[in-house]
Amino acid sequence: MTGIKLIGTGMYIPETVATNEDFTKIVDTSDEWITKRTGIKERHPSNGEPTWYMGVQAAKQAMEDAGVTPDEIDMVISTSVTGDYYTPSTANIMQGKLGIHKAFSIDINCACAGFVYGFDMAQRYIAMDDDVKTVLIISSENITKLVDYEDRSTCVLFGDGAGAAVVTAGPNRCYTYLECEAQDANKIYAQNARPGNAFTTQEGREKYLDLFPQGREHYMHMDGRDVYKFATRAMPEGLHKACEKAGIKVEDLALIIPHQANYRIIETAAKNLGLSMDHFYLNIDRYGNISSACIPVCLNELKRAGRLKEGDKIALVGFGAGLVYGATVFTI
Ligand code: UT7
Repeated sequence: MTGIKLIGTGMYIPETVATNEDFTKIVDTSDEWITKRTGIKERHPSNGEPTWYMGVQAAKQAMEDAGVTPDEIDMVISTSVTGDYYTPSTANIMQGKLGIHKAFSIDINCACAGFVYGFDMAQRYIAMDDDVKTVLIISSENITKLVDYEDRSTCVLFGDGAGAAVVTAGPNRCYTYLECEAQDANKIYAQNARPGNAFTTQEGREKYLDLFPQGREHYMHMDGRDVYKFATRAMPEGLHKACEKAGIKVEDLALIIPHQANYRIIETAAKNLGLSMDHFYLNIDRYGNISSACIPVCLNELKRAGRLKEGDKIALVGFGAGLVYGATVFTI
């Protein structure tokens, strides 16, 4: 099977800064609580930048870094859960804005694990479709538009931004493990607009209300404690299973790039794996949780810092609404 090579990365973070101190003016919280319980110090909420705009900025950087022109991109994958339009897809919009003419593009919704799913999908297309040689993966998130700024347990966690990567065929495969514990899909959700049209009756509205409640359901809802337990179990499990497929041990990994939801989740997962925190890359203090953009933003920071070394084995591990999780192991 053809493998995958990461050849370019990019990122975009809004200029607006929201510190923990800023949140003390909105909800009953403190810098001490947020820092101790999450590791977050600040995040960058969008100042109105659309999701596609942030994605396009990150993608341009990634294409420049990879040294590829728009004509060399065969496929665009967008992993956002916070697109600007119901239709067309976020991927279609960004493809157009980037002037990528000879490609096709698709959206995937795998929440905070989106980049891991997108990376795996890119390899599968590259391996199985002769027309796909180079793939652009864009993870752009405007999560703060789903945030309820009256709910202190969720509002302090999230920021916005985008990360992107260009991948092409390479000598080494990525080995991925993906899973969804769908019975717990209600543990994190934000609901779309209610079904209804010119013919919807009052009886219909009442009959289906339980199936599609109205109220503050369009905001992000999260059972923090249960998701915390899930995440600390899912991260080590996903990593072990991906490493098993790759025929290596977790300690053989040069670096693990985890979804940045909570410092304590990563610390507990590290303990469960028997690894030191030096194995993990963290930037949660600066950006908070940017959903699927977390992992490609980390990749960009690491690449710019010269920390992605040829031949190193790296793992990406994500988890989130679904409840989905997944890990992929690949060679730089
Ligand atoms: O990317 C999507 C995946 N999401 C996640 O992975 C998030 C997973 N969950 C978490 O990271 C944590 O559960 C939270 C950070 C959301 C919460 O931390 P926790 O240590 O699990 O706190 P808790 O929910 O058990 O609440 C402890 C206390 C409560 O007060 P009482 O009932 O003990 O009086 C909360 O009301 O902390 C209170 N609390 C706060 N206090 C100050 C909750 N949020 C805040 C806050 N400031 N912002």
